[in-house]
Amino acid sequence: MHEILRTAETAARQAGAYILQAMSELRQVDYKGRVDLVTNVDRGSEAIILECIRRAYPEHAILAEETGDNQQRSDWRWIIDPIDGTTNFVHGYPFFCVSIAVQFQRQTVAAVVLDPVHDEMFSALHGQGAFLNGAPLRVSPTAELGKALLATGFPYEMGDRWHRSMDYFKLFYYRTRGIRRDGAAALDLCYVAAGRFDGFWEYDLKPWDVAAGMLLVTEAGGRVSDYRGNPGSIDAGQLLASNGAIHDAMLEVLNTLPNL
Ligand code: IPD
Ligand code: CA
Ligand code: CA
Repeated sequence: MHEILRTAETAARQAGAYILQAMSELRQVDYKGRVDLVTNVDRGSEAIILECIRRAYPEHAILAEETGDNQQRSDWRWIIDPIDGTTNFVHGYPFFCVSIAVQFQRQTVAAVVLDPVHDEMFSALHGQGAFLNGAPLRVSPTAELGKALLATGFPYEMGDRWHRSMDYFKLFYYRTRGIRRDGAAALDLCYVAAGRFDGFWEYDLKPWDVAAGMLLVTEAGGRVSDYRGNPGSIDAGQLLASNGAIHDAMLEVLNTLPNL
């Protein structure tokens, strides 16, 4: 397991160095949706990560945002977001990361999230804790929603869930110290693990947005679920993550409106 984590860290570091160097260069921006961006740097970062994994574990399955499923059948599966926070990256807003999770029989066992700008490497191993640059991480002790700082994000597509996200924003904004919308879900989750945010909720996230961050939160002592309180899943399309202490209070707010 430690060897797998080391491979993930090496891959993230190589990709992070490439992304940083590419920040100063002109980027080729394409649209996946109305505001869903992808750049040549997303693709380049993914290629670097895939190369590292293939060299060390050629038989492992991989699910990566830009190239999809590698069609390998294996108990082991790597889930990769080569740049989480692409819109931030495109605008030079320094809040984006590389996210790599490793699953064994569909359970996430190792996770690495690297913020290359601030040189922060978040990592976790199932049952062995969460770490920031090697130092143990713990969620915040905040027990009251009224003293909490939350984070969220909004779906790209402007449907019912987009409107519902705005409604939730208002409800939480009224009840907490504040809400940040920082634009990189994987890093938002690491900030919950680090006690910088007390809670986070968002619709329509994909497995590569949340797989690593969810393990970071639980290994740092927090809780992850859907909006009803069922155990968190990378495929659920809705995620509530918190320090645990304010989880029920957040569920109560989410459940004041019908679940979508
Ligand atoms: C996005 C970010 C953002 C979230 C979006 C994601 P990307 O990932 O995590 O915070 O609100 O739903 O798609 O596109 O930058 O990899
Ligand atoms: Ca993402
Ligand atoms: Ca991405």
